[in-house]
Amino acid sequence: NKVVLAYSGGLDTSVIVPWLRENYGCEVVCFTADVGQGVGELEGLEQKAKASGACQLVVKDLQEEFVRDFIFPCLRAGAIYERKYLLGTSMARPVIAKAMVDVAKEVGADAVAHGCTGKGNDQVRFELTFFALNPELNVVAPWREWDITGREDAIEYAKKHNVPVPVTKKSIYSRDRNLWHLSHEGDILEDPANEPKEDMYMMSTSPEAAPEKPEYVEIGIVAGLPISVNGEKLSPASLLSHLNEIGGKHGIGRVDMVENRLVGMKSRGVYETPGGTILFTAARELESLTLDRETMQVKDSLALKYAELVYAGRWFDPLRESMDAFMEKITETTTGLVRLKLYKGSVSVVGRTSPKSLYREDISSFESGQIYDQADAAGFIRLYGLPMRVRAMLEKGI
Ligand code: ARG
Ligand code: SIN
Repeated sequence: NKVVLAYSGGLDTSVIVPWLRENYGCEVVCFTADVGQGVGELEGLEQKAKASGACQLVVKDLQEEFVRDFIFPCLRAGAIYERKYLLGTSMARPVIAKAMVDVAKEVGADAVAHGCTGKGNDQVRFELTFFALNPELNVVAPWREWDITGREDAIEYAKKHNVPVPVTKKSIYSRDRNLWHLSHEGDILEDPANEPKEDMYMMSTSPEAAPEKPEYVEIGIVAGLPISVNGEKLSPASLLSHLNEIGGKHGIGRVDMVENRLVGMKSRGVYETPGGTILFTAARELESLTLDRETMQVKDSLALKYAELVYAGRWFDPLRESMDAFMEKITETTTGLVRLKLYKGSVSVVGRTSPKSLYREDISSFESGQIYDQADAAGFIRLYGLPMRVRAMLEKGI
């Protein structure tokens, strides 16, 4: 039998390879997804995997799929978890797990394994995706089974099994990087009272050190999905990495928060989402032209639930899929251009236009117009306020 392991080449997943062979007597196929975590991480990976005892390494470039089919739907939905989190890690897990299910089929494996701990959200996201896409796969989560407890333990286990210990210096933070974001957890961040050190950040310069001159950027959106930057049409992944550059330079998109994990505990995390923050600002702004009041309210209330499902790993739940159909329909007219000004950590909107705009200057203007008759407002207010008048009459005995 064969198992497909979600593999990064770090110490933890390197140790999992011999551990799986020893404890399950299976061949190990390592799988690495390129979701934009940075090219350095993919170099020399095959030799490394084989040196750990894997029979094969499969690498798939999922960047465009990740942005087009996972990130953009969340953007269109306006999905934000607990007021702040733009779901970078949450969206990446289902695209990786889905690819693992495909790889398992391709190589004839009957099991999948991951290196997530038993305390986090990621284990849930991987396993719910496995369940949804192939309920027959066996799932192995070594962190919930073995008695390796720390880094020293893992190094010892590696040496005993002739696995070369990865030379890359382990960062003090637990990080997860992809095209959308970079997350930081652990070490001094575990005390929510501690301010993060500036040298922790990797995708963004500090607002203080950002350019003294603001930069303007224009985002083109069609039906709720971004298609261009400053008039240039770009593929989803290249559009996002371009905005990461620009946003990072201006210190955009840093978030420091304490969140509720699905497994019940609170955890403190710091996120860098430069391009994503620009895109969220643009998409939301365009909706101010294209959605009426009630539509916007319903959309925003569903966005909360949508975000919760994504956070909880329920990407392939028909509930999220149905909500996505709603989001697609409701943003059909969210098309246009948004001009933003980036300056020292802030994104401000300076202009928006849409061929589908519901805003009409001839109606809204302080100059008098034809369609709106101010005299109509008197009757409207009398009827709109009728319940309030009735209550007041009762109180006053009228
Ligand atoms: N707390 C965030 C989330 O649950 C980030 C998790 C980062 N994951 C990681 N393996 N370092 O989505
Ligand atoms: C982990 O525990 O594997 C990472 C953190 C998380 O999943 O929330």
